[in-house]
Amino acid sequence: MKLLILNGPNLNLLGVREPEIYGNGTYADLCKLIEAHAAAIGAEIEIRQTNHEGVLVDWIQEARGKFDGIVLNPAAYTHTSVALLDAVLAAGVPTVEVHLSDPDRREPFRRVSYVRPACVACVKGRGPEGYLEAMNLLKLKIDS
Ligand code: DQA
Repeated sequence: MKLLILNGPNLNLLGVREPEIYGNGTYADLCKLIEAHAAAIGAEIEIRQTNHEGVLVDWIQEARGKFDGIVLNPAAYTHTSVALLDAVLAAGVPTVEVHLSDPDRREPFRRVSYVRPACVACVKGRGPEGYLEAMNLLKLKIDS
């Protein structure tokens, strides 16, 4: 099982940005946690982060035929990007939307997720553990 873990804008600043919302763990800490879990569940993974919407679109498109599942935290693009919705639909790779915080309990503009209708599940408000939950959900789906 090959999983692509994609992170959108400003997630590289975890540990620095709004720790009261996102916690004190750094992006490197998040990657280590994901890598350890991947080893535990026998998944091959690639973890990527970009601040650019089009780069996320390219990566989602490239996942077709190469990865069995995508864990996607589109960050702020969640709430703005039809292009990401279209990319997930076009790629046809099972995708789980993940958020460290729970955007539905924050400002009203965060309550819209453009990508959600294209995703097989959404895990939100569970901090870094949410990525692991998303990986488990994909494993269940791919193994079934
Ligand atoms: C986020 C939530 C988004 O609303 C926000 O723009 C982010 C991070 C999260 O992981 O909680 O950058 O996706």
